[in-house]
Amino acid sequence: MRIVYLNGDYVPKAAAKVSVFDRGLLFSDAVYEVISVIDGRLIDMERHVTRLERSLGELSINAFADWSTVAQKLVTDNGLQEGLVYLQVSRGVMDERDYRWPAPDTSPTIFAFAQERVLIENPMAGRGMRIITRPDLRWQRCDIKTTQLLYASLMKMEAEAAGVDDVWMTSGDLVTEGTSQNAHIISRESVLISHQLDRSILPGVTRIGMLEQAKSMGLSVEERAFSIEEAKDAAEAFISSSTLLIMPVVEIDGHKIGDGRPGERTARIRQNYLAAVQSDHSTKT
Ligand code: PDD
Repeated sequence: MRIVYLNGDYVPKAAAKVSVFDRGLLFSDAVYEVISVIDGRLIDMERHVTRLERSLGELSINAFADWSTVAQKLVTDNGLQEGLVYLQVSRGVMDERDYRWPAPDTSPTIFAFAQERVLIENPMAGRGMRIITRPDLRWQRCDIKTTQLLYASLMKMEAEAAGVDDVWMTSGDLVTEGTSQNAHIISRESVLISHQLDRSILPGVTRIGMLEQAKSMGLSVEERAFSIEEAKDAAEAFISSSTLLIMPVVEIDGHKIGDGRPGERTARIRQNYLAAVQSDHSTKT
């Protein structure tokens, strides 16, 4: 039986109920994290907790839980070997619908569940992703991991309708990020270029580990926005995220990247990243 977490209790999925007056439901007044699980272990949990606490702080949501223990218990109780843990915190339930939230704070709604997913043997790593670009029409605080994901969903559906794998969003002619991934390129001069951390992108947890691996491979790194043209002209392109890990991009707006096959350095970054997270015993709880 699938066990989920809701406000301090571990309950069967069907028993986990949330009020229709929850601000997460009415206003997307909620933040979340997606933590990957490999070999039954949570990957980079501490970094996810740090980002969750920052997101909560930016929105003045007061919520405390032993996040790592909750996530680990869900992995164990559900016998999850490979997949993810989803964790969400909303500001909580109000008496009546109102844009303003009451002071002092409502008590938050905290829930989490574990979900199976193939991470390592994902066939996309062998063939690479095909991407189209679309304007980034999200709000201007993309550094906060809120559950306002409608635009990302619309873009995923647009990618599906176009017969490609995903969308990279753009501001003017600069790429911000993927619908649910950070976007990176390796230039012909062998420089890894990745958008700087600011309000226009989510500070990816996988991005941190990816940059560590790239640097230890001797790649030089520039943290700045790159243009669609630069991306099309790059030697390699790839994305990072907790659910896709490191994934090569082989086509942007119908234009092949490099020779149209997954880049060799991207494959090494993926391999090294996986080796690092699998041997990192600090992720064990
Ligand atoms: N998405 N950018 C956006 C907009 C994201 O939604 C995500 C993650 C990332 C990558 O962050 P990380 O490396 O910490 O997973 C970048 C998760 C996986 C999701 O919404 O399912």
